Amino acid sequence: MQTEKLCKEIKEKIENVTNLKSLNDLKIEYTGKKGIITELQNGIKDATDKKEYGIMLNTIRKTFNELFEEKLNKLNEEELNKKLESEKIDVTLPSKKIRVGSKHPMTRTLEELEDLFVSMGFDVYDGPEIESDENCFQKLNLPLGHPARDAQDTFYLENEYEKYLLRSQTSTGQVRVMEANKEKGPIRVVCPGKVYRRDDDATHSHQFMQMEGLVIDENISMADLKGTLETFCKKLLGEKTDVRFRPSFFPFTEPSVEVDATCFKCGGKGCSLCKGTGWIEVLGAGMVHPNVLKMSGYDPEKYQGFAFGTGLDRFTMFKYGITDIRTLYGNDMRFLNQFTRGDEDR
Ligand code: PHE
Repeated sequence: MQTEKLCKEIKEKIENVTNLKSLNDLKIEYTGKKGIITELQNGIKDATDKKEYGIMLNTIRKTFNELFEEKLNKLNEEELNKKLESEKIDVTLPSKKIRVGSKHPMTRTLEELEDLFVSMGFDVYDGPEIESDENCFQKLNLPLGHPARDAQDTFYLENEYEKYLLRSQTSTGQVRVMEANKEKGPIRVVCPGKVYRRDDDATHSHQFMQMEGLVIDENISMADLKGTLETFCKKLLGEKTDVRFRPSFFPFTEPSVEVDATCFKCGGKGCSLCKGTGWIEVLGAGMVHPNVLKMSGYDPEKYQGFAFGTGLDRFTMFKYGITDIRTLYGNDMRFLNQFTRGDEDR
């Protein structure tokens, strides 16, 4: 075996290789199934001096492997440098646009109202959506079997007389805040949140949003209620808005009123939105019923209060001219993208 000649040949061939493909071809030529070194290895069985043959074979194999590795590293490095060279990053290129979300119209209404009430000295309370029958009805002067329960088609978690339900009104917040106030002192709070009723058409959704307001103190009268609600409606629907109270009934307020605001679209002249009346119903309210105060530990001889509850969906629909409440909960980007303003703080 001409070890030296073979080694020289290997050296030359590897030296002349200029790319990874040819280097790989060489590897097959020498060490593949039918490769030169492989064949030599097979020839060991016919060798007269096996030891010497083995030593020579090893020298050839070692030479090939070492040179091969060396060349492989060199070529890889060259390749990498070429790549780095060609893929230079141009930091001055304009970047891809990042899509930034925007606030849901309901969130806008909610934040606007929270800001308004906080500026008038109210706290914001957020209660659970799964409630007890006690907090949603009984402590609001609606005992089991009370006919006024029918006005709210409620989702009970088990059956009608089981303890828990999806709250049908944020008035639950009234009970929770009064009970939590251990000193039984004055309260000024709004409770916004989701409520649930078995409704489903263009103006009613099984899930919607309300905001409850509760003020309790000494010497609170209907005048305070009217002043607060007037400020609220003017701020949300425009400074020219007037409000009017109509007698109504809620078991937890006495007297109770339904509050209308002048139609913001026609200014009170009468149009299709207000069905020609010039007024739009915006919320229910009243003076907190003495029974409700008593049940949550307040002395009705000392304290009075007013409460109101309003649907945020309705206000949002008025504000943005939305005709189907279900679009507010549909997550359809074509609808939501219309509310991207780009000037809001994110
Ligand atoms: N909870 C009543 C409703 O959902 C609204 C309301 C709240 C009325 C507070 C009076 C006082 O219809």
